[in-house]
Amino acid sequence: MTERYVLSYVHAAPLLLARQAGEATARTSLDLGLTTSEVHLGAERVVFSDGQWLRWEAVEEIAEDESVCYAVEDNAAVKIQRFSGVSNMVYVLMPTQRAPTVLVSGIQMHRVRDTDPWQDTLEKIRALSPLQGRVLDTCTGLGYTAIAAAKTAQSVTTIELDSDMLEIARLNPWSAPLFEHPKISQVVGDSYEEVERFEASSFARIIHDPPMLNRAGELYSSEFYRRLYRILKDRGRLYHYVGDPESRSGRNTIRGVSRRLRDAGFQRVDTRARAFGVVAYK
Ligand SMILES: C[S@@+](CC[C@H](N)C(=O)[O-])C[C@H]1O[C@@H](n2cnc3c(N)ncnc32)[C@H](O)[C@@H]1O
Repeated sequence: MTERYVLSYVHAAPLLLARQAGEATARTSLDLGLTTSEVHLGAERVVFSDGQWLRWEAVEEIAEDESVCYAVEDNAAVKIQRFSGVSNMVYVLMPTQRAPTVLVSGIQMHRVRDTDPWQDTLEKIRALSPLQGRVLDTCTGLGYTAIAAAKTAQSVTTIELDSDMLEIARLNPWSAPLFEHPKISQVVGDSYEEVERFEASSFARIIHDPPMLNRAGELYSSEFYRRLYRILKDRGRLYHYVGDPESRSGRNTIRGVSRRLRDAGFQRVDTRARAFGVVAYK
């Protein structure tokens, strides 16, 4: 199978610098920072260790574009983006200095200001610490919460509505464990419906990291919270991403979410400011 290389401006720029310096080889990352590899710098093109290559014009295009990651396909640089027929929105794999995020019609799927998508994920997981037993992740996205949870959980079931989002995840090196980790099971479907299939008290922890309220109202509804309460074990915990608790909209959303979670039966609901969410206790 052909090795899949993915580059962003972060890892294309050093190739241009090395070429300017007259080097014959350079080291950079071909998987968005997870590992580094040596590449050969030719007169016309950069050649990777397995013989795949990119023309310098393509490397320059990547280095100048901070908005999207590129996959190397047939020795050409192809933007990693998709139009989703499910949401009618465009998904773009957006680079950061660390793990990439997805821009969903211009809105970032993870926090990037004063943090990065992976750090953002670890804060969500920390809010549910100790994260053990069977875990449900209601919204897969790039799979970061599922992957981080799988480090300590007994198993992780993760649900994603949109197969186009999973296609983006398949091209993202940071999402690879989502498709390979033996503890992770994926479900493609609507969480609102899918959670009804689980037996009562199935999960010790639930990670609920939905799109914003105005894009996925059902996932913030009293009925959905009752469904999550049913499948959570006694003394189980639910983490619910809500948004910036310092912003006016975040405060309003937290107030409404907390009230509806208590109405659904949760005994206690605590705000977790660092994780931009709340933790509800059964
Ligand atoms: C904020 S992202 C989740 C990010 C994810 N936790 C991660 O670590 O990358 C929300 C995801 O929920 C998906 N989604 C939206 N509505 C859904 C639904 N009803 N059921 C399951 N997934 C849904 C979206 O397509 C999107 O991928």
